[in-house]
Amino acid sequence: MSHFYTNKTVVITGAASGMGRSYAVLLAQRGARVLLTDIDEDELCVTAELVAKYNGTLPLTMVHDVSKISQWQALAKLCKNTYDGCDILINNAGIEGAAVPVWASDMKTIKRTMDVNFYGVVQGTKTFLPLLAASPASALINVSSIFGFIGTPNASDYCASKFAVRGYTEALMVELAQVHPHIQVHLVHPGGVATDIARSERTAKFKEKFLTTPSDEMVNYVLQEVAANNPRIVYGNHARKTYWSSKLLSLSALQKMIGKGMKKLAHPDDYAKDHKGFKL
Ligand SMILES: NC(=O)c1ccc[n+]([C@@H]2O[C@H](COP(=O)([O-])OP(=O)(O)OC[C@H]3O[C@@H](n4cnc5c(N)ncnc54)[C@H](O)[C@@H]3O)[C@@H](O)[C@H]2O)c1
Repeated sequence: MSHFYTNKTVVITGAASGMGRSYAVLLAQRGARVLLTDIDEDELCVTAELVAKYNGTLPLTMVHDVSKISQWQALAKLCKNTYDGCDILINNAGIEGAAVPVWASDMKTIKRTMDVNFYGVVQGTKTFLPLLAASPASALINVSSIFGFIGTPNASDYCASKFAVRGYTEALMVELAQVHPHIQVHLVHPGGVATDIARSERTAKFKEKFLTTPSDEMVNYVLQEVAANNPRIVYGNHARKTYWSSKLLSLSALQKMIGKGMKKLAHPDDYAKDHKGFKL
């Protein structure tokens, strides 16, 4: 597996925290050249220093908002000018979304969730395809979620963004196989992974109960499956159970199962029958 990543140039978004940090460190250990990006400059520097422990030198970093096309273009230029290309792009950056039910959500937050989680992946994919096509052995890794298979309470915008990543990437897999089959395309569906993605007080209980798989364990699994060219990667707390339930159960049985699991985690105020979101 190590051989697959040796001397590869890998761009990782969302590298300042959680799984992005794990990708950076574990890929550096496997001999890859990593280019790290995030909006959080301070924590990005912390990741860069962790990587330097293995590489001896600080990796290239860039403060980069995945929702901004001009910043994607600047990143691709930096990668081309510095490393003469890119072999692997990991579209990892993501945010938790509104964390409220539909009637309590606002359009500004929903749009931000889509801009980061979905359009960030779209822009990254489109901007880097020429570089990946030029590499003799390349991979595109788009991060969805197990919430890319099921709709869960208080996560309608997040689920929509992760379903969208899945649909977009599955279509791309078929398209690229016709013209550039040497580009591996992967969809990652993490289950509950112990990171800081659930930042709001509303999701504290969810974080404690579900986000339990260590980030390095999750990313080690992803790297192993990418090296084995497995297109769909499902791993982490509740991931396989959720995946198979979404395939095998009727939608009404699935809804009952999800409702039962999520019942104690909801914010009572949001579920008031007279919530203002029901008023005209
Ligand atoms: N943790 C889980 O249980 C879980 C489960 C399923 C899917 N995921 C997905 O895995 C990916 C990584 O999440 P994580 O759990 O490591 O979360 P995390 O919050 O620890 O890390 C996400 C990183 O993305 C960065 N980021 C946020 N908005 C950005 C933007 N606009 N541009 C660039 N960077 C931005 C953050 O600053 C942060 O460093 C996300 O796409 C997330 O949706 C996570």
